[in-house]
Amino acid sequence: MKKIAVFASGSGSNFQVLAEQFPIALLFSDKKNAYALERAKNLGVPSYTFELKEFENKVAYEEAIVELLDKHQIDLVVLAGYMKIVCNTLLSAYEGRIINIHPAYLPEFPGAHGIEDAWKADVSQSGVTVHWVDAGVDTGQIIKQVRVPRLINDTIETFEARIHETEYKLYPEVIRELV
Ligand code: GAR
Repeated sequence: MKKIAVFASGSGSNFQVLAEQFPIALLFSDKKNAYALERAKNLGVPSYTFELKEFENKVAYEEAIVELLDKHQIDLVVLAGYMKIVCNTLLSAYEGRIINIHPAYLPEFPGAHGIEDAWKADVSQSGVTVHWVDAGVDTGQIIKQVRVPRLINDTIETFEARIHETEYKLYPEVIRELV
């Protein structure tokens, strides 16, 4: 069984779904007030948090992350709503071992607002993508992706909820194959 670290910046609902199905060695958050940290406490998952602003620069910040991952002998880094671009320090240490989930059908709607952007573009379908992380923004090799329809009576809230439900199924499916 590979040792998994999950990274989350916000609510951590994907993290929670994963922690209920797989042993998670640690949660890392770049936001001290992330609700994901609360979830980790309730789930008994060790959590660590440091913010970029505590460091001199992004290299030093990512060096601290690499040290944490090395110390715990992490095999797979699972980004689940980690809203920072992964830079060379972390990538060169862990490339090929970092995956991300994106709430759209890449290469459609990359970036931080995949759901909102698809909604505003009036698409009839969007999707969810799990991919390897490389130096680009949501550009790494796609592992698996599924389509999610936008229904005629959808509001952005119901559309968003359908995307999240799809994430909660797809991410565990992919991780089961990888570990
Ligand atoms: C998820 O929808 C994830 O796909 C998205 O952030 C959300 C985090 O929710 N990630 C991105 O947009 C990355 N570009 P969660 O904190 O409740 O899991």
